[in-house]
Amino acid sequence: MTCGGQWDKLTASRLATVPMTTTNDGSPEANSAGMTDADVLVPIKDFQIASGWASPASAGARARQCCEQLEEGRILFFDRIPFVFFKEDREFLLSQRQSGSGLHKNISYRPRENVLRGAAGNAREHAQMLEIMGRYSTEVMRFMERLLEPYASQLALDYASFRPEEESGRKLPTRKRNDLLHVDAFPTRPMNGHRILRCFTNINTTSARVWNTTESFAALAARHAEKAGLARIAAKGSRRTGPLARQIKEAFGLKVADHSAYDRFMLRFHDYLKEHEEFQINCPKILLEFPPGSTWICYTDAVPHAVLSGQYALEQTFIVPLPALLKPELAPISVLEKMAGTRLSHH
Ligand SMILES: [Fe+2]
Repeated sequence: MTCGGQWDKLTASRLATVPMTTTNDGSPEANSAGMTDADVLVPIKDFQIASGWASPASAGARARQCCEQLEEGRILFFDRIPFVFFKEDREFLLSQRQSGSGLHKNISYRPRENVLRGAAGNAREHAQMLEIMGRYSTEVMRFMERLLEPYASQLALDYASFRPEEESGRKLPTRKRNDLLHVDAFPTRPMNGHRILRCFTNINTTSARVWNTTESFAALAARHAEKAGLARIAAKGSRRTGPLARQIKEAFGLKVADHSAYDRFMLRFHDYLKEHEEFQINCPKILLEFPPGSTWICYTDAVPHAVLSGQYALEQTFIVPLPALLKPELAPISVLEKMAGTRLSHH
C-alpha cells in the first residue's frame, strides 16, 4: 500500500467482521473479488493548495486525470489537509459537546444561506461555529476548483457537515445506518442524473475513520438494480409537480421537488442495499482506513460506502452537473438508462 503504514493496521477484531485476509506481513490481500484498497484509493502527493500541481507543465493533464479517476469510481486520497484550515478552528470543533437530544447528531451548514442546522451551545459558540463552517466551505471550494480544474466553472457548492458523533455503535434505524453499504441519494434534493461529489476530512487527532467499500456501481447495478425495481420505476417515468400543486406549495414556502425516475430509483436503491442482509454480509469488502488529518474525495452516489467507525469529520458536498463530466457514460444515470432501455430524467 502506498499511503503509509497506517493502512496496514488491520486489527484482528475488524478481520473477524470483514471477509478480507492479510498476508503474513500484515498488508492487505485481495478479497474474494480480487480487489484491494489500492484498486480504489488514489494517493495524491503532487498537489499543494498554495502552489498547485508540482509540475506546471502537466497541471492540466493531472487535473483531468483526477476528474477521470473520480468518475471511474475511485477515491482521491491526501494524507493531510490539503486546503487552508486553522489549528484554532480544529480545536474549537473538537471541543464541541453536542446536545444529547438525539435530534441533531450532525451539524449541517448551508453555505449559500450561511445557516447552521443542529448546532448546540450558546449564542457566542453558535456564531463561532457559523464562522468556522463558512471558512471551511470557502476554503474547500477554492481547493476543489483548483484540484479539479475541468469542473471548476460548473462545480456547485451544496451543504457541508460536521460529524462529531462516534460512528461505531450508533443506534439508528436500518435506512439511516451509516455502517451499512450504500450509495448516496438525497430525499429532498433531486439530482436528475447530476452527481454528488463529497470531500471528507478526518479532523480527529488520534483515531482513523474507517470505511468499507465493495464493487463498482456498475457491478452492483448489474447484480441488484432489477431486483430493486428499476424496470418498474422506469416504466412509471419521471414525475413533475403539476402547476396547481406547485403554486400551493410555493405559496406556503415549501420546496417543489420534481423527482425523476432516476431519483426515485436511487432512493429505492439506497434502502434496498441497506435492507439486503445477505448482500451486507457476503459481498466482497475492502477496508479503508483514513488516518487522523487525512482528506478524501469521491462520488458517493457511485462509490458504495459504509462508515464503520470514526469521530469528528468534516464534509463538503458539491453537485457536478452531467455536462461537466469527462466520462458521462460512466455516470450512474447512464449505467441505469442503458439497463432500463429508456430515459430516466428530464435532463
Ligand atoms: Fe452515505
